[in-house]
Amino acid sequence: MCRLVDKAAKHMNAATKKMRVFETKDNYLDLVTETDREIERLLIEGLKAHFPNYIYIGEEGTSGTSSGRKLTDQPTWIIDPIDGTTNFIHGFPYTCISVGFWLNKKPELAICHNPLLEMKFTARRNCGAYLNESPIRVSGQTKLERALIMNELNSANFEPKLMAIQMGNAQKMLQKAHTLQTTGSAAMDLCLVAMGAADGYYEFYPHSWDTAAGVLLVREAGGVVMDPAGGEFDLMGRRVLAAATPQLGCQMVELLGDMQIYHPRDDEPSK
Ligand code: IPD
Repeated sequence: MCRLVDKAAKHMNAATKKMRVFETKDNYLDLVTETDREIERLLIEGLKAHFPNYIYIGEEGTSGTSSGRKLTDQPTWIIDPIDGTTNFIHGFPYTCISVGFWLNKKPELAICHNPLLEMKFTARRNCGAYLNESPIRVSGQTKLERALIMNELNSANFEPKLMAIQMGNAQKMLQKAHTLQTTGSAAMDLCLVAMGAADGYYEFYPHSWDTAAGVLLVREAGGVVMDPAGGEFDLMGRRVLAAATPQLGCQMVELLGDMQIYHPRDDEPSK
């Protein structure tokens, strides 16, 4: 998997130097490039040569539809060929290839490779998390009033009611925490929490392929991942909250309170 991702990262790096052409998917802000599709093909075909009977979930649907797929106990590769496609198109360097391997509904392996910033994050369950092969740890921050929090102001939450919740939460976080930042890549946000550069992250929207690798990185670096309303994290639920410590996670959950957003789950067939 690492060898394939390295190859894909070279391809991604070369593509950023070219004029970037994109298409739109669900709406005018949902973007995709030929490089997203090429990288997904490269990874899925490469992995399938070794693991033909595993399940594959990829953002661009190389292996069938991307949503409407159940997470089962079967060995499953979950792939986002370019997380932060909008950043990639603009040359804003917070973007990465994200690959997670899940078994028995648990994350086993993770890799997030950002070739633009030369950051390769890897993790294996019970074996720790690494950045460019050096071990990483979360910050250990326990207090929201001292925390740097990440969030994505997602275009899927632009509908007035959702926008009010999204902005209301952002305002409360800004008033309580040291600061609220956004990278434009859910996977990179999770990597930043894992390496201790950010203390917490929450989002109402990410797909399974955005978080499948990052959640293992955070946990293996000593952090916690949960639902933004405080329950267990559900990979298909399109909601995530990660924190350096359970104490910080609980304060974030408390602050978000009932200002919650629920999008259709990834395992529901798309309409
Ligand atoms: C998106 C990015 C964005 C986050 C969305 C993701 P994509 O992934 O991670 O920051 O807000 O939830 O879907 O579409 O660039 O792969």
